[in-house]
Formats: sequence, structure tokens, C-alpha cells
Amino acid sequence: MLALPGTEALAAHLGRDLGAEPGETEIRRFPDGESYVRIASPVADRSVVVTAALDRPDDKIVPLLLLASTARELGAGAVGLVAPYLPYLRQDRRFHDGEAISARRFAEILSGPLDWVVTVDPHLHRIPDLRDIYPIPVRAVTAAPRVAAWIREHVPDALLIGPDEESRQWVEPVAAGAGAPFVMLVKRRLGDREVAVELPAMDRYRERTPVLLDDIISTGATLIQATRLLRGRGFVTPCAVAVHGVFAEGAYARLLAAGCRPVVTCDTIPHPSNRIEVHDLLAAAVLDQHRTVPVG
Ligand code: R5P
Repeated sequence: MLALPGTEALAAHLGRDLGAEPGETEIRRFPDGESYVRIASPVADRSVVVTAALDRPDDKIVPLLLLASTARELGAGAVGLVAPYLPYLRQDRRFHDGEAISARRFAEILSGPLDWVVTVDPHLHRIPDLRDIYPIPVRAVTAAPRVAAWIREHVPDALLIGPDEESRQWVEPVAAGAGAPFVMLVKRRLGDREVAVELPAMDRYRERTPVLLDDIISTGATLIQATRLLRGRGFVTPCAVAVHGVFAEGAYARLLAAGCRPVVTCDTIPHPSNRIEVHDLLAAAVLDQHRTVPVG
């Protein structure tokens, strides 16, 4: 197991779950901002698993690519990536002339030095399957049963509220697992930080606790708007549950200040809101990937 900075706890969990040996790396910055990467454990003929937290990815990608390609150069049998949050999936088409279709280009870049990728609930909208853009094996586990279990235990009278129609694909199974009804917001994105959100007809659920359910909280604009509308309509204090808490630009504090609480996330991106663990799901996917190749 080789951990990129910030994923030491995940690597330790996975190492225990998989019975894999921890590897030593040195990753730091030269004074000019370039990355220094060293693999201090033998990797020749070993199967290498790299863990990476890829929120705010741009600074993390170069060390990851250097680490993976160096492991290969040093003779590793296979080099796989466990990235619980897989970034660059939202720009999945060219909305304006000349734009990069980042989801596709990023998949190509990552696939260069890697043999496989394991992740959690990738944000798939206009690209139906990760395998459509990743030329290497990719496995996506879903946190939906864990999210459903958390809601069942902590909010027994929940009404689940999905951010938009595209999220129905996983709001529906969470609702089924939590034994709760669900409705979908009507959302229009107006810009990077601005959305227009409308509540659907939901007065028949007035006695229930609204649980805003999203796969990603980025700027928090979607859930902050929804929180304000719910409070304006006299619903009880809503809470929010998300798989990936990116929390750009202080979004966590702004969401709490808007009156949404608690705000709970899975531990795909380390954050104080992490309440739902998924490392064992990742370990099972890595084992699945290694059915024919022993984990080193
Ligand atoms: C929509 O595409 C996603 O499911 C999330 O609703 C979105 O990423 C949230 O973004 P923000 O927190 O910036 O409103």
C-alpha cells in the first residue's frame, strides 16, 4: 500500500482489510513548487495499491502520476488506484465551443500509468458508465446502503429530498433502504456558484424531517437554497447527507449557518462531517480486482 498525503488512515484501514503490507514513500515539494517523489519500499514484482484523496485535485495529480509511473518503472506487477472521490466528472460534455471535456481527458491522463481504479459513487450524468471513458478496469462501489442505514438509525421519520432528476438513480435506492418517501427538487444551474432551486409539492410530508441527499456538496449552493426554502415553508430543521463532502469556499460553515444540521458525509474525503465509513467496501472491490493477482 502506498499512501499519498492525506490518505494515511485510509491506507492503514485498507492494509488491515486486505492483509497488505504498508509501503514507505517520501512526497514533498521542492522550493520551486515542483514535486519530489520517492518510493522507499521494494515494489518489483509486487502488486501496488496507491491511495489518493483527489478532492482539489490539481496539486495532487502530479505526485500521483509520478508515484504510479515510478512504481511501474521499478518493476511493480500492477499499479492500482483507490480514489474514494473521483474528480473531474462534472464537465462531461462540451457546453461551449473549445471547452475541454475534462471527464474524458482526465480519464485518459489517469489511465496512463495505472492498471485499475477503484472509487465510490462517481458522479455520472451524461456519461452513463465510467467504463465508457476509462480504458483500464474501473470499479465503483456504492455507499447507498450505508447512507440508507445511517438515515434509518438517526432520522426514522425522514423525507428524502434529491437535488435534481439526475440524482434519482441513487436517491431511489437510498429511500428504499431507509424505508422513507422521497421527492426531487427542480434545479437549474445558473453559474459555478449559483443555482435556482424549486421545491416540489410536498405538504403531505409536513410531519417528516427533511433529509437533503446529494452525491457531492461542492459550493453548497444547492443545499443552502433548499434549506432556505424548506425553512420558509415551515418544515422542521433539515439535515443533509452526502457521499462526497468537497465543501468548497467554506461551504460547510455556510450550510450550517443557513440552518441545515447536522451535515453528514461518507469518509471519501477526510472532513469533520464524516460519519459513514466506506473503507471496507473499497477493500472488497480491491480484492475483487485482485481475484487472479495476489495483493502485495
Ligand atoms: C449535481 O450535479 C450534483 O449532484 C450536486 O448537486 C452538485 O454537485 C452540488 O454542487 P453545489 O454544492 O456547488 O451546489
